[in-house]
Amino acid sequence: SSRPVVFSGMQPSSDSLHLGNYLGALVNWVALQDDYDPIYCVVDLHAITVAQDPAALRANVRATAAQYLAAGVDLERSTLFVQSHVPAHAELAWVLSTITGFGEASRMTQFKDKSARHGADATTVGLFTYPVLMAADILLYGTHLVPVGDDQRQHLELTRDLAGRFNSRYGDTFTVPEAMIPAQSARIYDLQEPTAKMSKSAASPAGLVNLLDEPSVTAKKFKSAVTDTEREIRFDPETKPGISNLLGIYAAISRRSIASLEGEYAGRGYGDLKKDLAEVVVEAVSPIRTRTLELLQDPAELDRLLAVGAQKATERAERTLALVYDRVGF
Ligand code: ADP
Ligand code: NA
Repeated sequence: SSRPVVFSGMQPSSDSLHLGNYLGALVNWVALQDDYDPIYCVVDLHAITVAQDPAALRANVRATAAQYLAAGVDLERSTLFVQSHVPAHAELAWVLSTITGFGEASRMTQFKDKSARHGADATTVGLFTYPVLMAADILLYGTHLVPVGDDQRQHLELTRDLAGRFNSRYGDTFTVPEAMIPAQSARIYDLQEPTAKMSKSAASPAGLVNLLDEPSVTAKKFKSAVTDTEREIRFDPETKPGISNLLGIYAAISRRSIASLEGEYAGRGYGDLKKDLAEVVVEAVSPIRTRTLELLQDPAELDRLLAVGAQKATERAERTLALVYDRVGF
């Protein structure tokens, strides 16, 4: 393919994706298929940098992949696979670790944050070298573009530095990737705590809308979403974070402008907005939920699809790895 290569990964850290994952990442992944050569990876090697229950991890890998497929990741146009199925990721990460400075890796702010959160005993060498594995993920496929949020920007810089360093030390081998600012990049907030980003580690489950929630559960979560004591439906994240989040979700999911929604709801109550939004969300998410549950009914077929993806990814990754090994003198 002559289309630019885009690489993106998602951790299999839950059995259900949430509305933030969907509107902030997955919708964009599906759209990218029109113009790019996307490599989508369920990053289970990254997931084990913090303790995992093996049975839950296995289930979460399948569930995450099933939700990508159900949301519209198309195996004709995208390469979708599980990271641990392609050994070249771990192999290239080792080579890259030998050109990564200890001090350089020590400056990664995400490692500092995570190790502070997990405590000294749970801070593993794997957590420390996580960004080197991420560099390998990206560089194996000749990636041109990586959609990154703010939290991954420093890791992408490291990836670019490592690619450049390897190229100047051993000869031109890697494409140096660029950050991609996604066209559609909605940021979704917690329904109960609308100044915090919606996250699977939400303080209250009521604030987190899961793609696999039953429709009645989704409706209930929107109904009890936190708002404010005014009556006006107006987008103002500073003073009206709850209503602004509802408008933001509505706009992202219906591809309408905030202004047109403000116009439609002028003079109407918060209850109307919540009820309509719940319907719009359920309508968008229900087919994904239904398709996901179907795919999970047949794990053998799902595993077959992932094996095909792994084979496609392996062919590409092995080409890069062979060149790298040759360059370093193996
Ligand atoms: P979580 O915050 O629930 O742990 P991840 O960090 O695993 O989610 O994020 C996976 C993908 O989903 C990333 O691309 C991230 O930018 C996107 N994402 C996660 N939460 C949100 C959100 N609340 N709004 C928009 N995008 C989000
Ligand atoms: Na996160």
